[in-house]
Amino acid sequence: MLRKKPEQIFFHTGNEHKLDEASQAMSELQIKIRSLKEISSSISVVEPQGENCAHVAHSKIMQVLDLVEDELNGNWLMVEDSGLFVDALGGFPGVYSSYVHSTVGIEGIVKLLEENKDKSARYISSISFWDGERIHSVQGHCKGRISLESRGDSGFGYDPIFIPEAGDGRTFSEMTLLEKTALSHRTMALKMMVEKLNFPSM
Ligand code: IMP
Repeated sequence: MLRKKPEQIFFHTGNEHKLDEASQAMSELQIKIRSLKEISSSISVVEPQGENCAHVAHSKIMQVLDLVEDELNGNWLMVEDSGLFVDALGGFPGVYSSYVHSTVGIEGIVKLLEENKDKSARYISSISFWDGERIHSVQGHCKGRISLESRGDSGFGYDPIFIPEAGDGRTFSEMTLLEKTALSHRTMALKMMVEKLNFPSM
């Protein structure tokens, strides 16, 4: 069954970069990504200490839905939880990516990896979305490696040290929004969402 695509999806996030990336990724499908703040300005959710991004995203959407389902008027809602998973560090910082970034930062991760040959890592993005009737969950990955040198000014978080495997050797921070979006874990998760709902693909 081919499903009618939504005209817009409300995204619960405080991160403008995530909003821009999701907007860029969905623009081909003419689906507008809007910040949930546009219809509900003071939503506070408890960040669960989940063992993986999927668990965190699911817990967050349940909390947000509880607060705004009436205001959504049948519109779709999405939340995302993402992180950087470094192989040589057993997946660290993973679900703690945001906290680690705001404490020891990029330099802390680089220090931990300096003596290690294996620099492989991946970003994971877990999206939970509400289609007006049900909650669905999808996950996207982006494989790459950590650069010991921080390069570039765009993007956010660990982008200055993340070199995507499918790229040309530049870090995500050295790419334009369009270039990062073509490769990112967030776009991969959004593609899964489109596939799952079986409306014309990206
Ligand atoms: P959260 O999903 O808001 O909990 O935060 C995820 C954290 O993972 C961010 O604060 C970043 O540190 C990191 N992260 C996730 N996705 C990206 C990305 O696309 N670029 C850079 N850092 C990311």
